Amino acid sequence: MKNILLGGISPEQFLAEYWQKKPLLIRQAIPGFSGTIERDALLDMARDPDVESRLVRQTRAGWEVLHGPQRASDLKRKSDPWTVLVQGVNLWDSATDALMRRFNFIPQSRLDDLMISYAVDGGGVGPHFDDYDVFLLQGLGQRRWQISHQSDRAFVEDAPLKILQRFKPEFDWVLEPGDMLYLPPEWAHNGVAIGECMTYSIGFRSPRADELVSEFLAYVQENLCIDGIYADPDLQLQTNSAEVSAAMVSQVSSMIERLTWDRTDIGDFLGRYLSEPKAAVVFDAPDTPLSEKRFVSAASKRGIALTIKSVMLFHGDEIYLNGEALDCVEEDIDALKVMAHERLLTPAQFNALTADTQGLLHACYEDGFLAVIDGRT
Ligand code: SIN
Ligand code: CO
Repeated sequence: MKNILLGGISPEQFLAEYWQKKPLLIRQAIPGFSGTIERDALLDMARDPDVESRLVRQTRAGWEVLHGPQRASDLKRKSDPWTVLVQGVNLWDSATDALMRRFNFIPQSRLDDLMISYAVDGGGVGPHFDDYDVFLLQGLGQRRWQISHQSDRAFVEDAPLKILQRFKPEFDWVLEPGDMLYLPPEWAHNGVAIGECMTYSIGFRSPRADELVSEFLAYVQENLCIDGIYADPDLQLQTNSAEVSAAMVSQVSSMIERLTWDRTDIGDFLGRYLSEPKAAVVFDAPDTPLSEKRFVSAASKRGIALTIKSVMLFHGDEIYLNGEALDCVEEDIDALKVMAHERLLTPAQFNALTADTQGLLHACYEDGFLAVIDGRT
């Protein structure tokens, strides 16, 4: 099906021709888009210690980066061009979350967050590469984007952020509100605000191999166990007691080789790891939680929805919510897979669940992972 967000091409065509391959400029991806959050609300978020933000300034002395929480006075400066970038706005604002969810033609396991930047005239973060895919959606005002597929990756020395020394733009566009630019990883880009400007970056996660391996090894340590104890009833007298013998190496090799894993373990690791909340995420448990009976009664009438910070994924028949595998009844697994995609269950879908699963969802509700739908989830 054609998708206006993708300029009239289908998600299948986008994946086949553009995703991770080449940039795509989409004029009026969201016609009439005026943003999901006001400038002042974004600047307030940048001052909040629970929100991740960066202020990038171009002073005469060079580039400066200040990590949040930001000071109110810095967000009023008139002297030098500056921009403030607020990470994970989707975790705090439901309209921004809803916007990010429109990109669900890419799996949630690849989604990172929605960042919003505000810049004064001339503000930007300089020409650079990112190693992830990004959709850059223009909100307020205009931004000039220049991009290049150059292989020259020399960075300005001693700068607090990775700025390309020699940027040679190949394409040059001015984006208006509602226009969107998709960039695959490794495309150099430079976005400069023309007047006041807000840009929405829907960013994807591309974990590095070394990150995945070290996280998987931690998973192995926690979840896969090998029993047995080193033993050497045939120990031979060594001429030098300091030698780690070949016999010892052989025995330990065979102990370690008994540690094996399969695709099920890797799927289980990924489900847990990719649904794990970011380090700074805190769930708000209900102040006065409903008893299980009252929860079931309310959910049967109004349905339930994941709360804004929750991540629910599945692999095979295992369902993962915020880093944990849910111990669910087999007959409800399909309904929970639908819930992971839709992020909600209607009253009818909730009513069709077994009492065990309704009880399990009550426990998730007590943790603040989901709520009864009331317009505030
Ligand atoms: C922005 O300035 O809003 C986007 C930053 C980037 O180029 O990654
Ligand atoms: Co970038």
